[in-house]
Amino acid sequence: MFANLSRRSFAGLAGLAALGMTTRASAAESDTHAPARFPKDFVWGTATSSYQIEGAVNEDGRGKSIWDVFSHTPGKIEDGTTGDRANEHYHRYKEDVGLIKALGVKAYRFSIAWPRVFPDGTGQPNPQGLDFYNRLVDELLANGIEPYATLYHWDLPQTLQDRVGGWQSSDTSKAFADYAAYVAARLTDRVKTIFTVNEVGRFVNFGYGWAIDAPGLKLPTAQLNQARHHVALAHGLAVQAIRASGRAGTKVGAAENIAACVPAIATAENIRAAEIATRELNAGFLGVVLEGKYTDGFLAYAGADAPKFTTDELKIIGTPNDFVGLNIYAPQFYVTASDRAPGFHVLPFPTSFPRMNSEWLRIGPEVIYWAPRIAAKIWNIDTIYISENGASSEDKLAADGQVYDLDRIMFLRNYLTQMQRAVAEGVPIRGYFLWSLMDNFEWIFGYGKRFGLYRVDFETQARVPKLSAAFYRDVVARNAIGV
Ligand code: NOJ
Repeated sequence: MFANLSRRSFAGLAGLAALGMTTRASAAESDTHAPARFPKDFVWGTATSSYQIEGAVNEDGRGKSIWDVFSHTPGKIEDGTTGDRANEHYHRYKEDVGLIKALGVKAYRFSIAWPRVFPDGTGQPNPQGLDFYNRLVDELLANGIEPYATLYHWDLPQTLQDRVGGWQSSDTSKAFADYAAYVAARLTDRVKTIFTVNEVGRFVNFGYGWAIDAPGLKLPTAQLNQARHHVALAHGLAVQAIRASGRAGTKVGAAENIAACVPAIATAENIRAAEIATRELNAGFLGVVLEGKYTDGFLAYAGADAPKFTTDELKIIGTPNDFVGLNIYAPQFYVTASDRAPGFHVLPFPTSFPRMNSEWLRIGPEVIYWAPRIAAKIWNIDTIYISENGASSEDKLAADGQVYDLDRIMFLRNYLTQMQRAVAEGVPIRGYFLWSLMDNFEWIFGYGKRFGLYRVDFETQARVPKLSAAFYRDVVARNAIGV
């Protein structure tokens, strides 16, 4: 059998064997006998957001949001759809809570539509709007599922956009704090964890800078930086308002799509470079929230376009948070070390880099290891939630009516393995919310991009569990990845 091996290659194989590297079968065996476990109290959940699933946009006194107006503007949504009907979750919430329960998860992250609660953004509240969330929260608790509420998942009341330019004005920051106080006073007897704003890194840039998302503006950089500053201020004011009006002990933080910088090759120098890059490239929101100041690098880079702020505002923005939520999908930048300022190189992506069924969703499982590890280190964070992670897939119904989303399972298996690695090394990740419970309105892509564990037929509203739902249920049940 070894007749064709030269002495040299045989010696090579022998060397590998000495290192334990040719014993494939036994390596596989040890894999199968050593499941990677999570801590006992690890929080497993799923996530959704109001405009993406609720529908019922004209019911019970709801005001319009910037996404109602934007999605109804011809040409803005790829498939010409809107969130008018979406998943009809407003009426089917009991069925949907049943879907969450069937996964075996004990936590659910949803968002509250600001224009349901304050149809005009400020002023008169609409108690009927809040009642929907009272019903939802009660239903979740009755089924043993802990509610995690997000206050702002992009559906800004249109009146605030019309009256003061939305996030272009600090009036919106103050209105947000009033809305946060109102909700906290009424829900924190049952909702113990509140996320203030979701993905500032996306909605400010895409909505106010590049005219891709609502409200569809293309502001000059100085105004864009100012708008982001107003969001940071809104976050800080809301943290204070929730503490003032909510039950003592309510936990509060943001959910941010951190600009995730990954060392291209994990040498000590490159890891350091990724830390520097992460701090500088997130200085405009996470940085100022967690440090109470903008970095020198950020201010120097912005120059005359830097946001205007007062010391008082920075104090409010830097109000200590109870946790940090990180939405982690794709590695944003792979970096290496550089001798020159700012101390890192950003590497170009080859076009052949693998992706899921969304252009932007590059597959780099190690990002869910590095981003929390680096964030915890540079900002000294003791509690992290992965507030979103998940993937879009083709999700065709097979002839037998099932959805064999093997690519989503591949994605999740790899990301969860990397997350377990982080947890095992002591990175303080306390919970994970899979995006998403069910297919929904994927913003500018309409219903064309599916992220759900359940497939939704948007004609009949039938929900069918995909194979990934069984995969996730198994991980959650065993509290481990691997068998
Ligand atoms: C992050 C956003 O928060 C969510 O609304 C969106 O659907 C997912 N990413 C997937 O793109």
